[in-house]
Amino acid sequence: MPNKTKIIAFANNKGGSGKTTAVANLAYSLSEMGRKVLAVDADMQMNLTLSFFDEETVMQLASGKNNIYYGITEAKSLTDCIVKTSYKGLDVVPSSSLMSMMEYNLYSVKDRENCLKNALSETVSKEYYDYILIDSPPTLGSWVLNILVASNHVIMPVEASPWGLFGVANMFDFLEDAKKYNKNLDLLGILITKVNTRKNYYKQTVFNLQNTPDVRVFDTIIRIDSEVEWAQDNSMPVGAYKKTARSGLEYMELAKEVDRLCR
Ligand SMILES: Nc1ncnc2c1ncn2[C@@H]1O[C@H](COP(=O)(O)OP(=O)(O)O)[C@@H](O)[C@H]1O
Ligand SMILES: [Mg+2]
Repeated sequence: MPNKTKIIAFANNKGGSGKTTAVANLAYSLSEMGRKVLAVDADMQMNLTLSFFDEETVMQLASGKNNIYYGITEAKSLTDCIVKTSYKGLDVVPSSSLMSMMEYNLYSVKDRENCLKNALSETVSKEYYDYILIDSPPTLGSWVLNILVASNHVIMPVEASPWGLFGVANMFDFLEDAKKYNKNLDLLGILITKVNTRKNYYKQTVFNLQNTPDVRVFDTIIRIDSEVEWAQDNSMPVGAYKKTARSGLEYMELAKEVDRLCR
């Protein structure tokens, strides 16, 4: 029997492609659908943690035991690092700025590509969560390899801009490398983000990606919406910040699409 908990990594080595925004809002939308979701902040920038908690709380979490750095390096398990959010069915493993040390730390660890997988195994074996969504830093090293080794699927957010596609080929190569360690790793799809429908350029990005062999592009595209930034400024998912926000509705559509593909 496959495990009930589906683990999805959000990765793209290009910063600003919408990874963190996608994890926070997809996590919220899936929880609104009644799914149990754990959002894991694996980036030292702590933006995913800031999507759910105010700065003061984030700093407290980062300096204590409720964060991924402590979980990986000390506890060797993320189970006790999990923090509840104010949203039903949505929990978070916060990050810490100490995650900037992780790449360096991994060099001296045995079985280094499996640290995150091992630390998640207790939580996964309980089959409590329907989804574990992992937010990645914009790098392609041992830590992101850890994230891909720990995951069943990958979602690659790509910004619909002239440089959004730059580096996508590197990402594909990296996914192939990761498959040497995790042969069932599946690219669930490319998520086109930050689309400006008033300009025609985004159609070029969609066209190029749809014509990439063996790659699924999600039907849902996420358009630019200033409510995203207001919601982030208030440490809230956009759908919770403003029920009618267009991007919140788009993330809900994406959640249905992801849920259909994973079940
Ligand atoms: N749909 C959107 N509309 C407007 N701004 C967005 C949207 N998605 C993301 N952004 C903004 O783009 C920036 C980068 O997004 P982010 O999710 O942090 O990317 P990444 O995690 O890949 O670096 C952030 O400032 C965020 O507020
Ligand atoms: Mg990010």
